Order: sequence, then C-alpha cells, then structure tokens
Amino acid sequence: MKEQTLFHDTKKQITLFNTYNYASYEDIIQQYSKEFRNLIKPKGDTCFGFWMQTLADLELLDLELQGLTKIYYIDPINKIVDFEGDDDYVRNRVAHLELVLNKPSLYCEFVDEFDDTNAYAFHNLYPYKGKFYPRIVRTLINAFKLDSNSLILDPFNGSGTTTHEASLMGIPSIGIEITPIGVMIAELKNELLFLNEKDIDFSYSDLIEILNAIENKKWEDKNSTIYKLMLIIYFDTVDAFQRTSRYEKKGKTGLFIEKFQYIKDCYKKIKKNSRK
Ligand SMILES: C[S@@+](CC[C@H](N)C(=O)[O-])C[C@H]1O[C@@H](n2cnc3c(N)ncnc32)[C@H](O)[C@@H]1O
Repeated sequence: MKEQTLFHDTKKQITLFNTYNYASYEDIIQQYSKEFRNLIKPKGDTCFGFWMQTLADLELLDLELQGLTKIYYIDPINKIVDFEGDDDYVRNRVAHLELVLNKPSLYCEFVDEFDDTNAYAFHNLYPYKGKFYPRIVRTLINAFKLDSNSLILDPFNGSGTTTHEASLMGIPSIGIEITPIGVMIAELKNELLFLNEKDIDFSYSDLIEILNAIENKKWEDKNSTIYKLMLIIYFDTVDAFQRTSRYEKKGKTGLFIEKFQYIKDCYKKIKKNSRK
C-alpha cells in the first residue's frame, strides 16, 4: 500500500535501525507556515493588518474608522471589523486593515511590495532623526476626512513624512522647515514620484564618476531632482561611514552604489503601483 503523507517531496534516509522517508526541510517549513497561518489568521472578510501590534494601534484604527465609515464595529479579540460605508474608499485609504471585504487594502499592497510597514514609497530615503511614522500621518488624514480638495500644512515638516504621505493619497500639501537638508529631502521624496524612468538610469561607472565629482565639489546636473538625489545619497553614505566601521568592507563607493540601487528599487515599485 502507498504510504500516505502530508509532504510531497520525501527523501530516503538510512538510520541505524531502518530506512525512512523524510520530508525535505523546505516542505516541512511550507506545511508548518500554512498551518500556522490558518491558526493565527483572523476569521473575517475585513480584518486587522498583521502590523497592528499594540493597544495604541487599536486606538488609531478606531480614529481612522470614524473618518472613513458611516458606522463601524471593531472586534479586537477576533481582529475583525464590521462597517457600513464605501468599501473601495475604505480599502484605498485605511492604514490598519489588511483585508477590506476580502480584498487587500492598498496599504497592505504597499507593505507586501516594500516588505515594511512604514518604509514604503520614498519614506526611507534618508534616516532623518525625528521622522513621523507614515502610518500615523495617514491615520490622522483619514480621521480628519481630508481629500483632494483639502490643503494640508505641516509647519514643522522635517524630512517631509506628512507632505509625502499626503501626495501618495492625492492631497495637496505645504511643508515649512527650518533645516535646509530637511527641505531638500522633503522636496525630493515628492519629485521622485514624477521622475522619468530614463532619468534614473545610471551605470556603475556613471555612479563612480558622480561620487568623485561630489567629493571634488564639481557635481552638477541640469535635472535638479537628480542633482539633489545624488547629494542626499552621498550625505547618507558619509553619515553611515562616520557612525560605524561596519561598511569598511564595501567601501564608500560600494555603499553609494548600494544606496542608489535601493532608491531605484523603490522607484520601480512605486511606478508599478502608481495607477492605484
Ligand atoms: C519632529 S520633526 C518633524 C517631523 C515631520 N513633521 C515629519 O512629517 O516627519 C520637527 C522639525 O521641526 C523643525 N523646526 C524646528 N523649529 C522650526 C521653526 N521655527 N520653523 C520651521 N521648522 C522648525 C526641525 O528642524 C525639525 O525638522
């Protein structure tokens, strides 16, 4: 009789006592994660994002649902929500739900695409100290029912989390900031959304030339977005070098190229989802 097994890919292994069929490591992990997902997944068609971890997140969900729906009920034990309102609108804007009536929220698509619950789009362009969490900015925009007819002002805009999140949601905004580097990063985050693909196409040797030009104070570019982008990547590179010896192996050039590639990847991901 054929041996029944949960696993598809078994391998024969000889032990001291007998020869057994063992599942492959990958198969065990796959089956285990399927089981695990079944156990922890909320049972409902509108459910919490896995990034909802704290009681504060629960309060924030409550706050944004006040702005997004007519009436709602949160079941915190089962991690599900019931609401009345425009489901497409909720799905496109909400920051704390993974599924809205069985379809992934746009925020969930960001999280999946960028593999991070906050560092999506160009929010992670530069490690500016004192940044807001984009998810909180989104929640407040939702709570205040702001839309494309509103105008958001952040008078202490820092590196522009508020203005970037507003742009991602299609809402005009103004940021005021006293630090020149903050202004530059904030502008850049939004300008990158509108950059042409061919303008961000640089070879390794182009990047090495650019790095040399910056170090020799000879860097210039007609495209002001590219001009600022390369400077910001350079500042980030130098800053990382100052802080730790961890990057010595890669070298300044390696790190500069790596940081450029990261931004280019973000650009590609955001372009892929730009229609949404
Ligand atoms: C906590 S950060 C702001 C974070 C930002 N709102 C965001 O969206 O990520 C506070 C910012 O206020 C700026 N700031 C402080 N005093 C200021 C002033 N008088 N005018 C403009 N900006 C100021 C600081 O330089 C700092 O970048």
